[in-house]
Amino acid sequence: MINIGVLISGSGTNLQSLIDNIEMGNINGEIKIVISNRKDAYGLVRAEKVGIEALYINREDFQSDEGYNKKIIEELKKRNIELVVLAGYLKILSKEFVQNYNRRIINIHPSLLPDFGGKGYYGDRVHKAVLESGKKTTGATVHFVDEGTDTGSIILQETVEVKEDDTVESLQSRVLELEHRLLPRAVKLLCEKL
Ligand code: GRF
Repeated sequence: MINIGVLISGSGTNLQSLIDNIEMGNINGEIKIVISNRKDAYGLVRAEKVGIEALYINREDFQSDEGYNKKIIEELKKRNIELVVLAGYLKILSKEFVQNYNRRIINIHPSLLPDFGGKGYYGDRVHKAVLESGKKTTGATVHFVDEGTDTGSIILQETVEVKEDDTVESLQSRVLELEHRLLPRAVKLLCEKL
């Protein structure tokens, strides 16, 4: 059974899909802790509802990003976390963090990386850029996290159609549905390999 730590910043629907898939016995892993950099992240409530420890760590309590990341690493180590999942986590990890968990951190991104990835591409901005590009296909990617932004090697990727009348909202919800299938599949794979 692999000890999983999940980092979030928002509503946590990707976290919820992991919780549900673990509940159904699809994944040989257990979420030991959920950490958020945002106090109001609903994902913290989702964790608490199913008895998973939920921790808000306030960036303001630290002098630097390095110090903030050190605290997160400390909390993960305390719980012998073996796999770190970034599920809508919007802060960049420090070099030290990535080196501490080499090829043990994965991220879900709402596009077909490397397209529409990297600095500044998150949330609505990704889907807005896809619509403006005129591309007829987009998708979601689960990748290992390295020291870059959205640049680590790809684990799983799947496409969705961009429809003529799509808005940012309609496209985002279609991609999110895919994410909720893709992330649990990637975590399942890794929990069988680690
Ligand atoms: C998702 O679109 C994900 O691709 C991106 O941030 C969003 C997280 O949504 N990384 P949620 O907090 O899991 O609902």
